[in-house]
Amino acid sequence: MSEIANEAIVVENLRKVYSSNGVEAVKNVSFSVHYGEIFGFLGPNGAGKSTTIKTIIGLLRPTDGKIYLDGVDVLKHPNRVRMVKGYSSQESSLDDRLTAYENIFLQGKFFHLSNEKIEKRSKEVLEMFGLWERRKDLIESYSGGMMKRLDIAEALIHRPKILFLDEPTLGLDIQTRHSIWNYIKKLREEHGMTIFLTTHYLEEADELCDRVGIIDNGKILALDKPGVLKSQIGGDLITMTFGNEKEKVNAFLEKLKTVKDVKSVNALDNNVYSLVAEKNGDQLIPKVFSVAEKEGISIESIRLKRPTLDDVYLTYTGKTIREAEGSREEAAQQRVTMRRIRR
Ligand SMILES: Nc1ncnc2c1ncn2[C@@H]1O[C@H](COP(=O)(O)OP(=O)(O)O)[C@@H](O)[C@H]1O
Ligand SMILES: [Mg+2]
Repeated sequence: MSEIANEAIVVENLRKVYSSNGVEAVKNVSFSVHYGEIFGFLGPNGAGKSTTIKTIIGLLRPTDGKIYLDGVDVLKHPNRVRMVKGYSSQESSLDDRLTAYENIFLQGKFFHLSNEKIEKRSKEVLEMFGLWERRKDLIESYSGGMMKRLDIAEALIHRPKILFLDEPTLGLDIQTRHSIWNYIKKLREEHGMTIFLTTHYLEEADELCDRVGIIDNGKILALDKPGVLKSQIGGDLITMTFGNEKEKVNAFLEKLKTVKDVKSVNALDNNVYSLVAEKNGDQLIPKVFSVAEKEGISIESIRLKRPTLDDVYLTYTGKTIREAEGSREEAAQQRVTMRRIRR
């Protein structure tokens, strides 16, 4: 019970089956998010990220499971957590016939804030997201990055303790994504906010999140700090090419296999060889050189590569997240379509 009181979010055995099509989008998922943490769900399209978020914030009713926000059982007491949570959805929720200020004003009204409060706070959040000067412009004239910033700013109008961001940089160019990351970091640093975000961008999870859950097919496959996940899947990879004939190289590789902290040695394509280190690869490189010298082997090139979150992802899901990237453009397109439909 103490865990529930001490954590910003606690999710226990969450399941969600959509009754319309019988799809089990979330399968018995449990995790918790600490206060002041940036926590992320990383997974491809259809993994169950949006469904999880929507269930936690009360947009969808779970089929099974328990959810606590700020120590409150949200299924029993939905009204008690209304002001605790802020949410920015995957699709833009802005009305592009209105100005930024009008959009944020409506959001304030949705939370029953007084006009005075809305005026004060919208200035605060619009300034925080660098949009104050553009508040009187129609959303039509906003770029994708500005719209996303406004979406997040709107979610803050009632000063929530816990912020939910579903794919906050979906379809944005890399520079804009970096700028959004800085705003998200600022929210945590300056306001101590707890942030739960979802993403299918590895760099985003790696750069922003204190802890990451890798989710696929409605299940959490791994959950830890990005650094721990990377170190768990094995050591550093050293790739090498040599200036000697094959037999000599093969004999050398056999010798390498007996060196301490060498996990495995493999032949790759085009005369490239790889060595997986038990742990720290940079300490192995001098040993490789000394064995090579003894064996009369000339090393033409040598490279050290540390495991990335992509390697982690591949290990757990059997596919690279790049394979899911094709749908990114599709998703961005979908956002535009959604906005047009609302007109
Ligand atoms: N409203 C819905 N009705 C029926 N099935 C849905 C609905 N929304 C999502 N799904 C299905 O649930 C699964 C998880 O989807 P979603 O949570 O949107 O994944 P993600 O956000 O990770 O892309 C998918 O198989 C998707 O087709
Ligand atoms: Mg989604």
